Amino acid sequence: MHIPLIDSLEKYRRRNPVRLHVPGHKGGQALSPVMRQGDLPGWDVTELEGLDDLHNPDGAIAAAQQLAANLYGARHTFFLVNGTTVGIHALISATCAEGDMLVLPRNAHRSVLGGLVLSGARPVFLEPEIVPEFGFAAGFGKDRLKQLLPRRGVAAVLAVHPCYYGVVGDLAGVSELCRRYSVPLIVDEAHGTHLRFHPALPADALSLGADAVVQSVHKTGGAFTQASWLHLGTGRVQREQVARTLRLLQTSSPSYLLLASLDAARQQLARHGGDMLDELLEITQETLRELTRIPGLVVLGKEHLGTCGALDHDPTRLVVSVKGLGLSGYEVGRRLAAGYGVYVEMADAFNVVAVLAPGTGREDARALVRALADISLEARRDAGLPRVVIPSPAGPPVPPQVTTPRRAWLSPQRSVPLEESRGRVCGEIIAVYPPGTAIIYPGEEITPEVIEYLLQVRASGLHCQGAADPALRTVRVAD
Ligand SMILES: Cc1ncc(COP(=O)(O)O)c(C=O)c1O
Repeated sequence: MHIPLIDSLEKYRRRNPVRLHVPGHKGGQALSPVMRQGDLPGWDVTELEGLDDLHNPDGAIAAAQQLAANLYGARHTFFLVNGTTVGIHALISATCAEGDMLVLPRNAHRSVLGGLVLSGARPVFLEPEIVPEFGFAAGFGKDRLKQLLPRRGVAAVLAVHPCYYGVVGDLAGVSELCRRYSVPLIVDEAHGTHLRFHPALPADALSLGADAVVQSVHKTGGAFTQASWLHLGTGRVQREQVARTLRLLQTSSPSYLLLASLDAARQQLARHGGDMLDELLEITQETLRELTRIPGLVVLGKEHLGTCGALDHDPTRLVVSVKGLGLSGYEVGRRLAAGYGVYVEMADAFNVVAVLAPGTGREDARALVRALADISLEARRDAGLPRVVIPSPAGPPVPPQVTTPRRAWLSPQRSVPLEESRGRVCGEIIAVYPPGTAIIYPGEEITPEVIEYLLQVRASGLHCQGAADPALRTVRVAD
């Protein structure tokens, strides 16, 4: 008779949480009235006569996609019901054949692994900079890209714009380079659906010349979780190639609640996007001013960037370094939720990251400020306690690639103790926050430096993603 999932959702909802996380509609506050007043149970259908077919649309879905394309200045837009993840899979598969090179930054989201496994492409990594004080990776210098692009076999470049921490690099410059060598530029703009609608925000990827872009409309655009869209900006990425992978990977019963929420979010962004962001940016500025007055906190701003690759920052993504409190970001995130009902999007060893989106009210932002002021006071009282020791965010050197991620992934695999994995071919991706980069990809050799780093990660309790054993006692290796 138990309903544990519903119980835990209700427990969260009854706390009247301050939602500084995705989805950007914030518990319905910024959900389009069309959705709020809609008959959601009655709309929960899938492809029926008269409702079109996501995989071969020529009716309502086609019309809704066309309106989204018009809004973003795209040649074509695909609606997605499995997040930006499936869009990244489709774009890598559409641009890269087995053995082709895909150039991408080491801090790309782990969804790229699915695209690499599906396509058999060979990743060539660009190393992002570490933003001092905050310890996360963002942007990359263009020199290495300039060396790589003239090489034969480079099938596409993938950029992340902005990264999880809201930082953007010189995408216009990257786009110009890609154009010069006729290499398609595909962009993971999961965190940038809103950028196009306000001049105070960094420019969006399509305006900067990207050939194809995927956006998580659920994160900052007001749609339901999992609802994303994929725009083609030019003809350089073949529409039919993308469509066929989406047909392969997406469900044959797409949720019309998700599709409807994309349509409604598009209409809302078109009609009110600018005004909503005006208001949000005011709240953001006030919050920034208040937070910078709290001892022990540093709030990310443009002034912390700009050495070579990381150039600008979306101020609606609040990144607060809590190192000065002698507490880890995890601990601060935990105290915010447990003590104050303030739920941030993410905490890493050094920072807490809050997503402010059109559904964020002034009171929500003030609750964050009050809670952090309290936590700062408390931490200063406990200043004599031992401080957290965290491995350097620079991470180990990128290990040698023995085979492609696809071959390593499809090989027979087993788990071996981390300490005994030296020289083996890794069978999984292991990403650590911070720096938010992959420490190792499938197909790479497990070097002594990687083992040493992962042992430090394990000892300091840093979170890692992608590994079958997140406690890092064992690692999957390919035979
Ligand atoms: C940079 C980046 N890209 C892609 C994704 C995947 O997006 P989705 O959750 O819409 O599948 C995420 C998710 O957090 C992300 O942070």
